Amino acid sequence: MNQKNLLSIAADFVQPSINRGIVLLSAKEMDKMRRVGKLAANLLNHLEPMVQPGVSTQALNDEAASWMQAHSAISATLGYAPPGHPPFTGSICTSVNEVVCHGIPNPKQILKDGDIINIDVTPLLEGYHGDTSRTFLVGQVSATARKLVEATQESMMRGIAEIKPGARIGDIGAAIQEYAEASGFSVVRDMVGHGIGRQMHTEFQVPHYGKRGSGVKLRPGMVFTVEPMLNEGTYELKFLADRWTVITKDKKLSAQFEHTVAVTDKGVEILTLA
Ligand code: MF3
Ligand code: CO
Ligand code: CO
Repeated sequence: MNQKNLLSIAADFVQPSINRGIVLLSAKEMDKMRRVGKLAANLLNHLEPMVQPGVSTQALNDEAASWMQAHSAISATLGYAPPGHPPFTGSICTSVNEVVCHGIPNPKQILKDGDIINIDVTPLLEGYHGDTSRTFLVGQVSATARKLVEATQESMMRGIAEIKPGARIGDIGAAIQEYAEASGFSVVRDMVGHGIGRQMHTEFQVPHYGKRGSGVKLRPGMVFTVEPMLNEGTYELKFLADRWTVITKDKKLSAQFEHTVAVTDKGVEILTLA
């Protein structure tokens, strides 16, 4: 996901003109997005059975890297270095328990019974990006962890269900926030969904909270991610010294799900389905 503010800095810094405004994708481009979206979802399916107590996040990373290579795709996260961040060293993001997002795979980090782990993949295929993540349960998890993960997925789907031409970006966030808070969880504010296509992140932002009827009007051809992060406790965040890993300020659990979606003439198409 994008970090608010920092993203605009990145846009100004790196690509002053390309990254402006909201890009509408052509039918041909949409086809490319469908292909890479499906690839991304298939990658998560491929990794899912590996998510067991005893596996390292590095092993998940390495399997993802070779799978992408075998499917003619490359990881858009490996070496990714927006201003203020060192190059990201993972081919995927692995975010365990209190890690909200952008966890860096590590051979010393071994999953254990009761953990939750978000795996976020962003393959690049034929010039277009797919971006999807799911939070997996490792062995037997607490009732709270299970509830958090289920609520996060449901909140994402409720946000996506709002999408159709004429709806507003705020409708998505409102639906997510309503469900999250009614479930007893908080919604992360500082990290948002984003426009996607030839670039992994465009300037277009998709907050996971907000007010119905507010924000940009949705139009067919818009492609962006919906990727809510729900926290067990406070929505406030902290960055680790590696300048990537984002954790909850109170070290309580966080979960996330992400789909890449397209606004169509009739409504919405989820591009990251297996
Ligand atoms: N996949 C993340 C997103 O949803 C972006 C990861 S960038 C990385 O936007 F460098 F942290 F990998
Ligand atoms: Co994203
Ligand atoms: Co992602």
